[in-house]
Amino acid sequence: MAEKIAVLLSGRGSNFLAIARNIAAGTLTNCQIDVVVSNKSDAAGVVAARDMGIATAIFRQKDYANKATCEQAMIDLLRERGVQWIVLAGYMRILGAGFIDAFAGRILNIHPSLLPSFIGLDAQKQALEYGVKVAGCTVHFVTNELDGGPIILQKVVPVLHGDDEATLSARILEQEHLAYSEALQLVVNHRVHIDGRHVRQC
Ligand code: GRF
Repeated sequence: MAEKIAVLLSGRGSNFLAIARNIAAGTLTNCQIDVVVSNKSDAAGVVAARDMGIATAIFRQKDYANKATCEQAMIDLLRERGVQWIVLAGYMRILGAGFIDAFAGRILNIHPSLLPSFIGLDAQKQALEYGVKVAGCTVHFVTNELDGGPIILQKVVPVLHGDDEATLSARILEQEHLAYSEALQLVVNHRVHIDGRHVRQC
């Protein structure tokens, strides 16, 4: 049976759409997007999910007593739905330890840099300002360390003379759309296991 994925997003959702397209095209198999979860009801990714008939759920911290109760409600929903994999795709909230522990080894994130360089916000801008000659993206498991979990895969792009944040981000994004589905295929097929800091293929 296809493994159930929840995509968590806060913005335009291009990584979500790339995954959805690959599943529809049959180039990413053995999984289905069960639900799109967001902290923003009007995020473009949420609107797109609704248009595609994919279930959506909105959790805003201000509707709950605190972050922990909000995240507990998310955990309850994801467990009720039998979600196996949590895919962070531009989700602009830092998940608490309770959530991360509830789905230990089952949460993936994509970050627009070659980790461990340039963690946090505006990674592409950080890379340009630093003057690196290559940049890229990283798909990794999520742990309590920000952008610090074991790396599943990375893709590299050149930084070209004259690049600005927009051109570099676009070049990286193209690779993100390939990388996320490749990484997901490995995890939903149970082809990787976590061994300390290492993600080993099996
Ligand atoms: C991507 O650059 C991703 O690496 C970062 O947030 C951005 C999300 O873009 N974590 P999108 O919403 O998937 O288009």
